Amino acid sequence: MSINNVSLDIDYVRAQFPAFSDPLSAKWSFFENAGGSYVPHNVIDHLNHFMTSTKVQPYAEFDISAMAGNNMDKATKLFAEMINASNDEIIIGASTTMNMYVLSNAMKHFLKPGDEVIVTNQDHEANVGAWRRLKEHGAVIKEWKINSENAELEIEELKRLLSDRTKIVAVTHCSNIVGSVNDLKSIAKMVHEYDAYIIGDGVSYAPHGFPDVKHLDVDFYAFSLYKTYGPHLGLLYGKKEILDQLPNQNHEFLDGDVPYTLNPGGPNHEELSCLIGVYEYFDNLYHHHYKNNRISVREKIEKVNDLISKHEEEIANPLLAYIESRDDIRLIGKNKITNKNRAPTIAFTFNQKSSKFISSELVKNGIATRNDNFYAWRCLKALGIDTEDGVVRTSMVHYNTQEDIDKLINALKTLTF
Ligand SMILES: Cc1ncc(COP(=O)(O)O)c(C=O)c1O
Repeated sequence: MSINNVSLDIDYVRAQFPAFSDPLSAKWSFFENAGGSYVPHNVIDHLNHFMTSTKVQPYAEFDISAMAGNNMDKATKLFAEMINASNDEIIIGASTTMNMYVLSNAMKHFLKPGDEVIVTNQDHEANVGAWRRLKEHGAVIKEWKINSENAELEIEELKRLLSDRTKIVAVTHCSNIVGSVNDLKSIAKMVHEYDAYIIGDGVSYAPHGFPDVKHLDVDFYAFSLYKTYGPHLGLLYGKKEILDQLPNQNHEFLDGDVPYTLNPGGPNHEELSCLIGVYEYFDNLYHHHYKNNRISVREKIEKVNDLISKHEEEIANPLLAYIESRDDIRLIGKNKITNKNRAPTIAFTFNQKSSKFISSELVKNGIATRNDNFYAWRCLKALGIDTEDGVVRTSMVHYNTQEDIDKLINALKTLTF
């Protein structure tokens, strides 16, 4: 079998996730992955180990404390390698919302009155509200609006907004409603031509393939580890040279101790340490499918990224085609995934029925999904969708199966009015 023909071994994948053999969760076809993913046993094992054997304040001399600290450092190092960053460019916080808030609070010191901040109306509010608050410090807020016909952010519109006063552009790598992958690398290049900073929200992107932050050349990039098969934490990447210039928001005597200067206080120790399990899961996936051992962590991640994208595309495209074929359903975003241009995060509304009604019917059919605005309420408003009732969102990751899709399509077939 040539390397290009390798397909994801879905049975192997699912065997790594205890949820699929747990009587409570196994009965569901799980389509709420954009809300939060299941975790592989490696994560649970590391969490268990930390809590059982090393649940003490880390970094003291005695062995269990040293071990706790080593595991926390190891998790940071592995995640840095996975996204092609350095250890001192990784900040672990409570959530992406918290990380963005703390970052914007620090970055206000870069602004002069009249400086411009560009936010989008496609983003989740986590990457909007924190930046809009900079108005209180004299910033002028500009909105990069989606095209309300196709829900896409168009580059021409950004070109119109950028100016010599632009200081910050905050944009999602992938929308949690539209699913489209925005060309963050090209956007970063444009933003840097104006000497401005770019902040990428990778929360809806990272579960489908860990990014290479250096390749994207973003200044900051955030994602939520609880959606990438880990515990409830957020990871923020920041370029070291920029972190060095930000003010210390931690204890006075920690000044200069980048990256601990950004977040007041430290990360959740046990959860940070069990991120080793996410790395191990991806490493195991690589070794289960490929033989070459002499490649870097990042190279392995890229191989696994390709493998999971191919699987996701295969299972999601028939669902997109089915929804598109229905005159009574409004699909949000592209109707086909081609070359990773869309995540399998599929949102829709029915013309005749509320999203709440449809979601409840799907739940009755064993489909774990929900209706909501998913905090992308500006996006829904721009699309003329009731922000209370929201959309029905069916989101998949690589552990979803063809059977899940068949079950969802069959349930949708019964919903005709
Ligand atoms: C695209 C996107 N950005 C940001 C967030 C906020 O993440 P957190 O819950 O870690 O604050 C979410 C959460 O759903 C999201 O989907």
